Amino acid sequence: MNTKILSVPSSDVSTELLAVFAVDAAPKGAAKPEIRLLAGDDAPAQAAAQSVLAGGEFKAEPCETLLIHNPAGLKAKRLVIVGLGKAAKLTPHEVRKAAGVAVRFAKPRSLREVAIAVPVAEGLDPKLTIRALAEGATLGDYDSDTYRSDRKDRGVQSVQVVVAPGSDQAAVETGLREGVIVAESQNFARALVNEPGNRLTPTILGRRAAEMCREFGLRCEVHSTEKMRDLQMGAFLSVTQGSDEPPALIVMTYEPAVSESGGAPAGPVPGPVLGLVGKGITFDSGGISIKPSDNMEKMKYDMAGGAAMIGAMRAIAQLRPPVKVVSVVCAAENMPSGKAQRPGDVQIAMPAPGKPGKAIEIINTDAEGRLVLADGITYAKQLGATHLIDAATLTAAVGIALGLLNGGAFANDEDTWQRFTAGLKVSGERFWRLPLDDDYRDVIKSTIADIKNTGGRYGGAINAAMFLKEFVEDTPWIHLDIAAVAWVDDPKPWSASGPTGVAVRSIVEWIRSF
Ligand code: BES
Ligand code: MN
Ligand code: ZN
Repeated sequence: MNTKILSVPSSDVSTELLAVFAVDAAPKGAAKPEIRLLAGDDAPAQAAAQSVLAGGEFKAEPCETLLIHNPAGLKAKRLVIVGLGKAAKLTPHEVRKAAGVAVRFAKPRSLREVAIAVPVAEGLDPKLTIRALAEGATLGDYDSDTYRSDRKDRGVQSVQVVVAPGSDQAAVETGLREGVIVAESQNFARALVNEPGNRLTPTILGRRAAEMCREFGLRCEVHSTEKMRDLQMGAFLSVTQGSDEPPALIVMTYEPAVSESGGAPAGPVPGPVLGLVGKGITFDSGGISIKPSDNMEKMKYDMAGGAAMIGAMRAIAQLRPPVKVVSVVCAAENMPSGKAQRPGDVQIAMPAPGKPGKAIEIINTDAEGRLVLADGITYAKQLGATHLIDAATLTAAVGIALGLLNGGAFANDEDTWQRFTAGLKVSGERFWRLPLDDDYRDVIKSTIADIKNTGGRYGGAINAAMFLKEFVEDTPWIHLDIAAVAWVDDPKPWSASGPTGVAVRSIVEWIRSF
């Protein structure tokens, strides 16, 4: 999808479809909505729509649409008005959705080109608004019907972003560029998540990450069993041993440019190193603690945390923030076989320098995500990470706790948490913080080993986070449990069903806060 900025009155735009956003500006409690179109120059569009709007059929509710053919006084062939809801509640997040609605309005009608008028309103920051608009349009263009033999590519090829003449050109250009980069990277993650287990093995995921890194100038190493044995990654290896597919330990590195003022510094650049750790289980059967067959096909999305990290690195490579980032994605398949690990087995996790590896009693082979992440976290620290963030489709329990709208978030450090929540205001993603109090640790105590890999029936998402915390230790850390939000079964007016690419945007904002 191409995007370009048009700095002309929206009435002058020649297009198949012009989308203009509208709010209900009526005061609270008013009997009738008061529809106001929000283009920098709304007058011509407002005039073209006036008679229909007067009829009262359109209320500007979020995602509501109204189509007008051959709108009088406009060069556009069609005008679609997309609702943003109440004027008083308007934020860029509504704009993100509405831009997705506009693109998804065009797709089934085989309109390959749309123009979207950037809304101007009090309370809408111009740069964040255009960024959200670019994100929404790009995300709206994604569909997951990859393997249908009758697939018709209905992708929107070009989006003209129409800004009112006289807008702040720099804000417009930066907002558009950033929005497109971040959303294309999120779509990249979605495409990986959408791949079935037979077509995206750990090895292939490694290859895809390496290709992305080559394209965007990141360093990338993809290791397998041998290197993992050298590192004594007993927890990660235990998950892989039941599968015929070799695991992949994917390491991607972003180095910021050397500061322009100071010449070449000797030795490593001081300052934070951000460690991104992703769960990359390309298929989770549960292993010997095998899952029921109902919905097991969805366990191809158990690498969504890893995909989010690969997507975030893709964005970071282009946005070039001034901080070093290393990402470790632990990719494996969790399968039952004669070689698979058993409940009751004890595994020794990767040792940290000067300490023996922690002994883990395997209670349930289906609690495999925390095992691969344990070694991934230790390795990220060994690679120099001073701050950690991980993302994982870790527990079904997080969906029981929070439902399908908020991801679960955990943090062991207030400053790091503040950076993360500040980023949510920009990303528009929803995460809800859950507790990590030390006394939850009791549930993962083992008699035979240091810890066990499950914590019983209650608070499953917290128990899993407590397990990870054993390996994180004092390093400032955010843990994102995205099991219930990485995949949606029903399409939304602004977004396709299937993989959501959740967490890419929030991780990118978190990185940019450093
Ligand atoms: N990948 C699953 C979690 C999951 C469940 C993700 C549903 C997406 C949708 C994870 O590996 C798992 O199986 N967790 C177990 C942990 C339990 C055995 C302690 C779970 O949540 O049931
Ligand atoms: Mn599992
Ligand atoms: Zn899993």
